[in-house]
Amino acid sequence: MSEKPSDLSAAAPSGDAEAAGIAPGRDRYLVVGNPIGHSRSPEIHARFASQTGQVISYESLLVPVEPADAFAGAVAAFVAAGGRGLNVTLPFKERAFLLATRHTPRALLAGAVNTLSAGPDGLYGDNTDGPGLVTDLQQRLGVDLAGKTVLLLGAGGAARGVVMSLLQAGIVELIVANRTPERARFLATHFNGAAAVREAGLPPVRGIDQAAARPADVIVNATSSSTLGVDLALPCGLFAGCLLAYDCAYGGRPTPFMTQATLGGAAKTADGLGMLVEQAAESFFVWRGVRPATDEVYRVLRESTSGQAVGSADDS
Ligand code: ATR
Repeated sequence: MSEKPSDLSAAAPSGDAEAAGIAPGRDRYLVVGNPIGHSRSPEIHARFASQTGQVISYESLLVPVEPADAFAGAVAAFVAAGGRGLNVTLPFKERAFLLATRHTPRALLAGAVNTLSAGPDGLYGDNTDGPGLVTDLQQRLGVDLAGKTVLLLGAGGAARGVVMSLLQAGIVELIVANRTPERARFLATHFNGAAAVREAGLPPVRGIDQAAARPADVIVNATSSSTLGVDLALPCGLFAGCLLAYDCAYGGRPTPFMTQATLGGAAKTADGLGMLVEQAAESFFVWRGVRPATDEVYRVLRESTSGQAVGSADDS
């Protein structure tokens, strides 16, 4: 069911914040996307705020995809009304990147922004999807990425958003494989050619056609296959020796990719619900300077996700 775009004036300066349903004295945050009704971010951030004693409000806003300047208009209106920061989700992450006046290195490399902070000299753009994935892998799932080979499936926005963080986690090799191999090759070239990656001496990113023929320790599905409800066409034996098969999608039951991985012999599988919570925690930290604990929020979300349709962790 499609959602009706919100009245953008809801994000505009209001002479009477209380009448507009906005609690006075609270720093305001917003998640924008299309669709947005499924977003768990308002609930997650409300829990983070109450846990850390931060006085904020966090709302959601559906922005129309057309006209092309609707997104910029909504952001500008929100900031002019005193809004402090926004989460940006599909399909606006590239537009948010273009709107930001300054970027963190991880956002620059991802070419996409999911966290905007309003500052005196404009909008600061960040991308917390990668840290969200790595924190979930290392801290919740207990996988030490140092020295590991990681196979990343997909070369779209979700894949691009997590490459830098995987490289920085101490892996020895990142192999990118994609249905359309040119996109995987392009992604690998983009990162290998980037000064930030070269100067930091980070490991190479290879397209699967150039990859060493050794099995991956960790396989991450960053394609949209599970949200589309389809199986990936994968080579036989891919999961042999795989310690963890991780799907950036999540849902109330194992995703198609997790089922494939289990049947293929992966030692362990996980979905992206933890990534969803961790990327939100990183945004909260960027805005508030306080790092919320995530286990309880994860547990509540896991319970309420039971039986629900598949969503994607980068679609906050
Ligand atoms: P997102 O921002 O969610 O990553 P995207 O940029 O459209 O969305 O990328 C979708 C990714 O899922 C791509 O890597 C796509 O592969 P192609 O580049 O070949 O299109 C991948 N994908 C989607 N459906 C797929 C399927 N049925 N099998 C394999 N890969 C699929």
